[in-house]
Amino acid sequence: MTVKVSMNVNGKAVSAEVEERTLLVTYIRENLRLTGTHVGCDTAQCGACTVHMNGRAIKSCNIVAMQSEGADILTIEGVAKPDGTLNVMQEAFREHHALQCGFCTPGMVLSAMDLLKNYPDPTEREIREQLDGNLCRCTGYHNIVKAIKAAAATMRG
Ligand code: FES
Ligand code: FES
Repeated sequence: MTVKVSMNVNGKAVSAEVEERTLLVTYIRENLRLTGTHVGCDTAQCGACTVHMNGRAIKSCNIVAMQSEGADILTIEGVAKPDGTLNVMQEAFREHHALQCGFCTPGMVLSAMDLLKNYPDPTEREIREQLDGNLCRCTGYHNIVKAIKAAAATMRG
């Protein structure tokens, strides 16, 4: 059985007929071709599929597309400005070499952006605790923490 789903993705209204069981991550990757949202585990453990839904980080493999009916979704493709200028968090990841293979990076960046809303001046421990749902198989955690602290400092001015 199919259902019509409509939402805003990266500021653009989109809608499609999908099977009821279609995961949000599948809809994003296969219908919208926004392949920066990755699938690492499909069981809500790795965080590679993280996107923002109505401003909060969620794991898009953990909900079906129709649960985001009418929602505002932000994927990694919508984080930089339209002219390509990187967001503060993306720039900090680049500056501090916070990625190796890059597979976890979109989810890390989106989770880190959400983290700073609640922890504008996070300690290393808070960063590590808040990001425990995002796994980096390259074990690049040290530089990821550094990047998030740097982005927080930039945002605090
Ligand atoms: Fe969603 Fe791993 S693919 S948490
Ligand atoms: Fe490779 Fe994190 S940079 S998985």
